[in-house]
Amino acid sequence: MQPDSFKADRERFDRDAALWDGCPNPHRAALASACREALAGVIEGFATSPSLFDYGCGTGAVSLPLAQMCASITGCDFSEGMLAQFAKNAASLGLDRVRTLQLDLSGEAPIPPERYDIAHCGMVMHHIVDIPAFFCRISEVLRHGGTLSLIDAEPEDGSFHDDNSGVAHYGLNPDQLCQQLEGMGYDIIHSRRIHTVEKPRAGQMKPYPIFHIVARMQD
Ligand SMILES: C[S@@+](CC[C@H](N)C(=O)[O-])C[C@H]1O[C@@H](n2cnc3c(N)ncnc32)[C@H](O)[C@@H]1O
Repeated sequence: MQPDSFKADRERFDRDAALWDGCPNPHRAALASACREALAGVIEGFATSPSLFDYGCGTGAVSLPLAQMCASITGCDFSEGMLAQFAKNAASLGLDRVRTLQLDLSGEAPIPPERYDIAHCGMVMHHIVDIPAFFCRISEVLRHGGTLSLIDAEPEDGSFHDDNSGVAHYGLNPDQLCQQLEGMGYDIIHSRRIHTVEKPRAGQMKPYPIFHIVARMQD
């Protein structure tokens, strides 16, 4: 179970949700675009349209534009506000085969019965304290042989976010994550840097590299 400060984090995401897509945040659109391209590559690796579980889906800026490539998309988030915006965005794009699910896999909530071809976690793991326990839980939503797609910031000095409340990790080490996944019976398909966010810090632009790990659960 995550500490109480994470409840405040959820409430902050609830408040921010309606303004998230329109926020004049120059790095956010570029990051979403890089994440979308990376996730599209995962989807394209399937012979038939896969089912996608987008954990920490936010407003759907990454996954919803890929809906035509998927058999279905389940947007999962702990924030009701984010899910409401996700559903609104899906409706305005005229998408069916899209549903939402409020769930916090960092806690002990029951795992839903559906199994998916891909579980994607984009920029959400740094909010989760116990990553090995999270990997066990997210693995349960994958069908046997399913694919995990993980995107997050590489280790940083704590300056990536303007406000670090609800941030459990100042970035994550992709090599360590790959080792953990291999220890759980995943094959690493690739682990690579897909983007670098640039933010103004102390009078200059500071780079924050972003990694993408794709891992397949052994049958
Ligand atoms: C930085 S946003 C990323 C949104 C989206 N994945 C993207 O790449 O645009 C992080 C999202 O993770 C959600 N989140 C944070 N902690 C979570 C948790 N423990 N369980 C589920 N969702 C969580 C937040 O509500 C928010 O929507």
